[in-house]
Amino acid sequence: MSVITYSAYAQKLQEMGISRSVAENTDLLKAVEEIRELKQQKRAVILSHYYMSAELQVTHANGGVADFVGDSLGLSVAATKVEADAVVFCGVKFMAETAKVLNPSRKVLLPSSLAGCSLAESITAEDVRFLKKKHPGIPVVAYINTYAETKAEADICCTSRNALAIAKALPGDKLIFVPDQFMGKNLQQRVKAETGKEMILWEGSCEVHEQFSPNQILGLQMMYPEAELLVHWEVPDDTVARTLSRSGGILGSTTDIINYVAESKAEQFILGSECDLGATLRGMYPHKEFIVPCIRCPHMKQIDIYRTRDALRALGTEREDLFRIDLNETVIQGAYLPIKRMLEFA
Ligand code: 13P
Ligand code: SF4
Repeated sequence: MSVITYSAYAQKLQEMGISRSVAENTDLLKAVEEIRELKQQKRAVILSHYYMSAELQVTHANGGVADFVGDSLGLSVAATKVEADAVVFCGVKFMAETAKVLNPSRKVLLPSSLAGCSLAESITAEDVRFLKKKHPGIPVVAYINTYAETKAEADICCTSRNALAIAKALPGDKLIFVPDQFMGKNLQQRVKAETGKEMILWEGSCEVHEQFSPNQILGLQMMYPEAELLVHWEVPDDTVARTLSRSGGILGSTTDIINYVAESKAEQFILGSECDLGATLRGMYPHKEFIVPCIRCPHMKQIDIYRTRDALRALGTEREDLFRIDLNETVIQGAYLPIKRMLEFA
């Protein structure tokens, strides 16, 4: 690795709050160098979610490995534009599946088969068919955090960034929203107030965001009375109701949170979302302070720089099928329309 690239990468990691000894670790830097070379040799790109650890969030232009870093909506849009032969997806399985549905002629590799999601696992295609039978004619909105087979049963998908706009825009006075009950309840308050619509919910939850309790946030608000609160839609509605109005801040998606900090005059923020979004925010806003009760998504953290390198090493060899996302044609066709409709709200 050239001196310039080496120092740019290590410096970016330190800006994101990573210690110098970790940022300058030789094994890490060697892996970064190999990944950058493999991407070029094998015509691959890396798409990386904001919940990945910092080492996977530094962009290629800054000496890192990611060609694009974003939230699940941004990553979906990026997937439609990939011209390289292959995508290595640093995120979780439902995200990699969405990339495959949107760009089926490209190979999509997920560096760990264990990168699941408690929300995606909480609901099946069969469950959605059951809901549709029980509530005939009511439109179904499936959160992007579902598997492709489940999406294929929905009328439209959404991400945390466009869920509110989609729920408000749908025709009729009711809608089915699956599978996150807490996001559903948080959305329901706004949707009901602004349109009078009822939302029928499922009982799934995010195993990370459901852990943010009122007492935990209230305790931090007492310790940091000047701080504003940044909470993701998936945080329990009870926590949001008891904390947000005390300090001000935002309830929204990952990108809403990032944009809110850019606009806010506050200098301190309490983050009610995945731990490594704290690294993203520190990298973007080095002069602001982020208090982060560090709850990590165990699924996202299945993927690290070394597994990403393994996936790239396997690309084009007989080991590739350990990492490749394969979906049958019926599922791809079924999931395409609901995802495409979602992208009209991007
Ligand atoms: P975003 O849609 O904000 O990227 O969130 C993804 C996710 O997994 C939230 O838990
Ligand atoms: Fe799923 Fe929650 Fe992890 Fe997001 S943070 S991938 S919703 S378990």
